[in-house]
Amino acid sequence: MQSTSLQGADAVPRHVAIIMDGNGRWAEARGMIRVRGHQAGARAVTAAITEAVRLGIKTLTLFAFSSENWKRPRAEVSALMQLLSESIKRESKALHDNGVRVRVIGEKSALAPALQKQIAEVEELTAGNTRLKLNIALNYGGKWDIVQACRALAHKIQTGELTPADISEESFHNELALTEDVDLLIRTGGEMRISNFLLWQCAYSEFYVTKTLWPDFDGAALDAAIAFYQRRERRFGMTSSQLRKDKDGV
Ligand code: FPP
Repeated sequence: MQSTSLQGADAVPRHVAIIMDGNGRWAEARGMIRVRGHQAGARAVTAAITEAVRLGIKTLTLFAFSSENWKRPRAEVSALMQLLSESIKRESKALHDNGVRVRVIGEKSALAPALQKQIAEVEELTAGNTRLKLNIALNYGGKWDIVQACRALAHKIQTGELTPADISEESFHNELALTEDVDLLIRTGGEMRISNFLLWQCAYSEFYVTKTLWPDFDGAALDAAIAFYQRRERRFGMTSSQLRKDKDGV
């Protein structure tokens, strides 16, 4: 049997997270307005979910809107919010029928009340599903996540539920918006940065950056990312020879 440290050797990653970048460039290259790129990006989201289900990936986390994306032109922000709302409305039933559990992570209180309601509805509808956990990061920032976890721990100390000595990597991790570490982080669009995504949860992720722009990222592109992951040796701070001994049971 494989040890957990060898999980990446030939297994499908449990948790894949994606920074879906390049919608704007995709549209601009076709002489279209940026919003058309986001619409094409929404179609690529459906393709990625379908392929993730087929591959047996257990958790897929998509960066749909960062805490910094509010700085974009007002028209683009509202088009993105509308697209997210329409996508939830259009896809809820199919997601539910396919056994997908939907969760939105991020500072939801800053979203429009109607969108918050839709989110609560799709989360409730799909709460019992177990085939794929789909997390949509919306108004999410890794720094925000860390700060809100600190605040939650501080509150527990204030109420006497915990003492400062109870703060550990584990208790901190458990307060994060997303408590599953990422195995494979994919970024489309070619930029080599993490853009304030899952800062804590990516501590030991494998990174796959592709120049493919998000609207062109199809099922075959996801397969290529998984094949890359399967060639990686996940050492978690250990050496290659330690891992080989571990694998051979020596
Ligand atoms: C980054 O591309 C992409 C976004 C900020 C939005 C991602 C949103 C979607 C794919 C739409 C639908 C999402 C769901 C979950 C239904 P960019 O605009 O920064 O591209 P650029 O780097 O080429 O300018």
